[in-house]
Formats: sequence, structure tokens, C-alpha cells
Amino acid sequence: MDKIIIKDSVKITKKNGINFLLDNSNRPIKNKPWLGDLFSFLYDWIMEKSVFPKKFNSSIEEHYKILGEIFENVSDKVIIEFASGSGDAIKFLNKRNSYAGVDISSGLLRLAKKKFDQYGFKIVELYCADACETPFQDNTFDIAVCNLSLNFFQSIDKFLSELQRILKPNGIFYCSVPIPERKKSKAIIHGTLYTLDDLKVLFENRNFDFEPFPHENGTLLYFKAKLNANNDEK
Ligand SMILES: C[S@@+](CC[C@H](N)C(=O)[O-])C[C@H]1O[C@@H](n2cnc3c(N)ncnc32)[C@H](O)[C@@H]1O
Repeated sequence: MDKIIIKDSVKITKKNGINFLLDNSNRPIKNKPWLGDLFSFLYDWIMEKSVFPKKFNSSIEEHYKILGEIFENVSDKVIIEFASGSGDAIKFLNKRNSYAGVDISSGLLRLAKKKFDQYGFKIVELYCADACETPFQDNTFDIAVCNLSLNFFQSIDKFLSELQRILKPNGIFYCSVPIPERKKSKAIIHGTLYTLDDLKVLFENRNFDFEPFPHENGTLLYFKAKLNANNDEK
């Protein structure tokens, strides 16, 4: 079933097509502002001109080519993207999928909404929420995606527990992330960087089969992690 299912206990209000979570007093839950939120209108430009070439020592064209190859045969799935940013999923995800985008930045979600309105996923919903605390029911998604953002999440343990909860058994997580051992430039990459070995251990301890992709693009690692079907440890 192509459904994005929300937990019964969660209250949501929709504003300009974006879902905001409410607290017990029916007030929108405030997320810690992300450093790029104020500059969200410049986000795509900053990524292309500065973040990819200077921070990641990599090519943005190559990035989307790699993602295009990875997701080439992914269709008719229910997909969550954590930290969906300005909506670049339209560059690599087939529109025959159903899509939920989660981000803490309402500015970036507004940009994403414009792109998604034109694109035509089967179902598309955007949520202003923390990746470590999403509103979805257990076992909702076939596929989860997170590009260039794992380093920003406050607790990798909380994130992995949330991922494990909302993915279906045999669900697959696809990720691109900067790793310290590939870092050549002196530019600061914010957040917490994990090595390939750290990531392997973190995911395997959570009952995922971890598999790096062979692609190389500057600092970036591309990997997938499949949740084992006997996911008793949820
Ligand atoms: C470098 S951007 C990457 C955005 C997008 N995935 C892309 O590839 O262009 C980092 C994103 O992480 C989001 N973010 C940071 N912390 C977050 C959190 N705790 N939960 C959800 N999103 C978060 C930011 O708002 C921003 O959209």
C-alpha cells in the first residue's frame, strides 16, 4: 500500500502545504534553527559554488550522476528522505514513488514544496520535524534516504533507532555523507563526522547489513544499509 502513515498520538497542522507537528498545547513544536535557514533562498547556489567544490572537494554533477545510478530502478516505493533540504530528490528519484520529506528548516521546505508541486510524485508530503523524532508509524517505509546531512543529527543513536522503527523489514537506507579520512581541504565541515568503520559498526549493531558503494567523489562516501527481516531488536 502506498501510504505514509502517521502515529495516532501525533497532532499536525498544515500551513502552505507543509506539515508542522503540534505539542500537547496544540502549539507548533519549534526545532533548533539550522545554520542555513536564514540563507535558504541562496541554498542551491551555495551548495554548487561553495559546499561541493570547497568543503567536499567534489563535483555536484558527479553527485547527482551517482545518485541517479543508485536509484535508477527504485520505483513504486514509499520513501522517506531525512533532511530533504531544498527538494533535490527530484534529480534522482523516479516520480512513480511516494515521498515524505522531513527537514527542520521551514525555509528549505518551502523551496522544496515548489519543486515537488511541479514534479508529480504519486504522493508527496513534507514535514517540519527532527530526523530523530518523526511522526510516522512503525514499519511505514520501503526506502529511506539521507544526503549530506547525517553529520548534523544531534544523536546518531536516536537517529538509528528512529530509522529502524519506521523502515519496513528488508527496508533499505541510502546515504551520502562526508567522511574524515577522505577530507583533503581545510574547510570546516560542521557536525559530527563518522569514519567508514564507525558507520559500519553503528549500522551492524542495529541489525543492518552495511554496504559501501564503490563511487568516489571527494570527501563523500555513498553507502546503503539493509534492515534485516528478523528485526526483533526494534
Ligand atoms: C547540507 S543540507 C543537505 C540537504 C539535502 N539533503 C541535500 O542533499 O541538498 C543539510 C540539511 O539538514 C537539515 N537538518 C539539519 N539537522 C536536521 C535534523 N535534526 N532533522 C532534520 N533535518 C535536519 C537542514 O535543514 C538541511 O536541509
